[in-house]
Amino acid sequence: MEMKNILVEHEKFTATITINRPEKLNALNSETIKELHDCLKKLEDNDMVRTIIITGSGEKAFVAGADISEFAHFSEKEGAALARKGQELLFDFVENMKTPVIAAVNGFALGGGLELAMSCHFRIASDNAKMGLPETSLGVIPGYGGTQRLAQLVGKGRAMEMIMTAGMITADEAHRTGLVNHVVPQADLFATYMTIADKIQRNSPVAIGKAIEAVNANFKDGVNGFEVEIKNFGECFATADFKEGTTAFLEKRKAAFEGK
Ligand code: COA
Repeated sequence: MEMKNILVEHEKFTATITINRPEKLNALNSETIKELHDCLKKLEDNDMVRTIIITGSGEKAFVAGADISEFAHFSEKEGAALARKGQELLFDFVENMKTPVIAAVNGFALGGGLELAMSCHFRIASDNAKMGLPETSLGVIPGYGGTQRLAQLVGKGRAMEMIMTAGMITADEAHRTGLVNHVVPQADLFATYMTIADKIQRNSPVAIGKAIEAVNANFKDGVNGFEVEIKNFGECFATADFKEGTTAFLEKRKAAFEGK
């Protein structure tokens, strides 16, 4: 797969995606969004990939937002289409993946950058990271799910303030409000991720995928999360991973999950 704007590396069960437009602080243009979609789709189908990390190239930015130069002249209709297409191709897609996707926020995560980080299943940040949704300063609102996911993650009042002021918060403030799970020096970001990924990779990939779906169900209109949990819980009993996990426990050995 020919990709101009992202780099993909594999190490054991981990795939690392680096958004690679450092001269534009890794701003997301539509080509990058499409490349991310195609890449993530391929990784989701790859049994050898059990965790995915998304990060930005360089030491300054994770992603400094959607590429402003691309939509500055758009009409109302084009604006709505941009948001819809982006949400479908990337932001909702990431959130609903069965393979855990973790954002390693290594610098500015603004606008679409923070929205991408928030679509990931959770986030770790370097201590130089700055996060915000500056869209109202451009005369627009977050369009890649930011108004919804920020309120889900930090609460309505804090989300309202961040969106209205268009301000940035530090990694420590993001940690305090639950927006990111861990803050570490930039040099330790990847190692921290690998330590967490290693713990995830020891568990059943099938069960993790079903757990992601059940947790997400709470935030979907017209879906009863408790019912999804019951259904997915039951489905686990029909999997080889469940047999292996319970057998290994009873035999006092470590489980070797196949993800089936
Ligand atoms: N879209 C397009 N280009 C962007 C961008 C974005 N969201 N964010 C940064 N860039 C580009 C700049 O235009 C500049 O390009 P140039 O060298 O060709 O002029 C380059 O990236 C470097 O950015 P610069 O602004 O010079 O760096 P800085 O250190 O002075 O400021 C930021 C860093 C992040 C504070 C600043 O770039 C910024 O405010 N970016 C926009 C953030 C935003 O509003 N995002 C939401 C978009 S909806």
